[in-house]
Amino acid sequence: MLEEKRKIIAETVDFINRRKPISPKIAIVLGSGLGGVTEEIEKIDEISYKEIPNFPVSTVQGHKGTLIFGKLNNVDVMIFNGRFHYYEGYSMDVVTYPQQILNDIGIKTLILSNAAGGMNPTFKIGDIMLIRDHINFFGTNPLIGPNDDELGPRFPNMSEVYSNRLLSLAHSVGESLNIHLQEGVYIGVTGPTFETPSEYRMFNILGADAVGMSTVPEAIVAHHRGVEVFALSVITDLGIVGKIMDCGHDEVLQAAAKTGPKIVELIYNMMPKI
Ligand code: HPA
Repeated sequence: MLEEKRKIIAETVDFINRRKPISPKIAIVLGSGLGGVTEEIEKIDEISYKEIPNFPVSTVQGHKGTLIFGKLNNVDVMIFNGRFHYYEGYSMDVVTYPQQILNDIGIKTLILSNAAGGMNPTFKIGDIMLIRDHINFFGTNPLIGPNDDELGPRFPNMSEVYSNRLLSLAHSVGESLNIHLQEGVYIGVTGPTFETPSEYRMFNILGADAVGMSTVPEAIVAHHRGVEVFALSVITDLGIVGKIMDCGHDEVLQAAAKTGPKIVELIYNMMPKI
């Protein structure tokens, strides 16, 4: 089983390593509505996921499917423009496929972004929340199955999935740019339903500040392989009693697109210091 998996991954990695025009050490995964980030990048090459052997293809509206190589503030970067969600019906193995290839293409740092519902009563729509920690509420784990000991331990330590170093860096860069940043705990759920008022309340009682349908599996796999992880959420709707509104995917995309430029500015200015 492991041999088979290694072979499949090797095909993907060989293709990307032959095709890539630069050798970035930083990769970014763009979430809902954050596609605008790509406009700030000095693009060198863009490869459709469809062209990459064994690479999955996303089905959600607003999610593209390309791998972009370029420079952000003069730093080499690779962008996963489009991600795979568990609610689309993919296995955890497919959801985290991009993270499974990171080491073999030389990536040391992974930046993840997502749209999330805010449950912390101090949050507002459009806020950026740096993820300090997560709660895995998917009811499963992407590392279930045979462990590849060459990649990471059977029982990974999870005391610092999200790099404290990068959190501090984000706070100091945010302060210098006057970008207001929240920080908190992200709870990852399967979706595709948004939460009922009782579920939002429960998640807040459990210690979560924001809820979303991605990021957790990707962060787990990247962390397992020793990749440094930094993640942030755009708060696109509120799960706070009295403030819950009738919200759908379009509202989420709109709110995420509005905050997009601020996230770009933050990440752009962090790049040379990562
Ligand atoms: N719940 C789950 N996922 C989300 C939400 C939400 O309220 N907003 C954006 N993604």
